[in-house]
Amino acid sequence: MNYIDSAVAEFRKILLEQQERCHSMDGENTDFSALKALIIGLIDGDGIGPTIMAEAKRVLRELLKDEISAGTVVLKEIEGLTLENRLSLGESVPKDVLKEIRSCHVLLKGPTTTPKGGSMESANVTLRRELDLYANVRPVTVPEEGIDWIFFRENTEGEYVLGSRGVELPAELTMDFRVTTVEGTRRIARAAFDYAKNNGKTNVAIVTKANILKKTDGMFSQICHEVAEEYPEITAEDWYIDIMAANLVNKDLRSKFEVFLLPNLYGDILTDEAAQIQGGVGTAGSANIGAKCAMFEAIHGSAPRLIEEGLGDYANPSSILRAVELLLRHVARSSAADRLQKAMDTAAEEKKVLCTGDKNGATCHEFGEYVLSLL
Ligand code: IPM
Ligand code: MG
Repeated sequence: MNYIDSAVAEFRKILLEQQERCHSMDGENTDFSALKALIIGLIDGDGIGPTIMAEAKRVLRELLKDEISAGTVVLKEIEGLTLENRLSLGESVPKDVLKEIRSCHVLLKGPTTTPKGGSMESANVTLRRELDLYANVRPVTVPEEGIDWIFFRENTEGEYVLGSRGVELPAELTMDFRVTTVEGTRRIARAAFDYAKNNGKTNVAIVTKANILKKTDGMFSQICHEVAEEYPEITAEDWYIDIMAANLVNKDLRSKFEVFLLPNLYGDILTDEAAQIQGGVGTAGSANIGAKCAMFEAIHGSAPRLIEEGLGDYANPSSILRAVELLLRHVARSSAADRLQKAMDTAAEEKKVLCTGDKNGATCHEFGEYVLSLL
């Protein structure tokens, strides 16, 4: 078979698989307050992962110590999601690791390294897909500027779902795919508008490039507006991603935005920009939420450069600690979440112990100690 014929055959398979995915999206929401024992899976990850996770675990253990001794919360360490293990098995998430992961209600995960090139998928992308974690929720605040943003990034579709399955005519061309489904868009739109409604927000910015990507972004925007009709008290505004990227650095305008609703890749890019405005990608937490399960992580990657330069111990654990706060809120442990939020806000305000990512700053462990002392 020539390249074109095999690409066409593969495309047919992809279309059928994606159609099948559309039909398997429903699921009942877990009621965390009704569980006899909440199982929290802990995954260290690669690079600076084990270093920042060590601090996150100490803080989590302290905040939940009564429930851990009473047995209503179980912390379960999950081994084996390391780059070495994934590469040697040739699996982005090894099967036995995935099985362990599925036995947990929620996960706290350190960053995992994605090999460049090759065909191995990012472990994050695999987990988001396998666990159907469709909502990537990322809050960003700059209180002194009145910035209180929250991003609802679609987390299972767009460029990501088939990112490792593009086609190639060698030495001629390459082509990737981008997928948007009606139900996949509807559920992320509902998550964003529900959040707005329940938290007194009146503005949702729908961010696309629907003038260019007419099918996928065109439909994303259209479905979001259909959902918006169920929330007449909330204004739904259309914005294009390019001007929105500019708006976020426009100090006269940016604090007016509240809730952002956007497809996967734009959400990836815009949330790093937003985190940088807050103080750096080391400062923002990230929640990956599905109906059944949820996974909480830092917004940034495994920082191989810090490790290469021998500066791993100087990594900033703020982002993963913010993820711990999001996890606690998600599982209805709001007083523990409030305690951590207060400690993190105080740490950010006082700036007594600051991680700068180099030897001039505090170590990750010193920052962890400081946050523990503020709880
Ligand atoms: C993120 C990260 C991931 C993404 C990577 C690690 C696959 O950048 O969570 O934003 O692109 O989604
Ligand atoms: Mg990203």
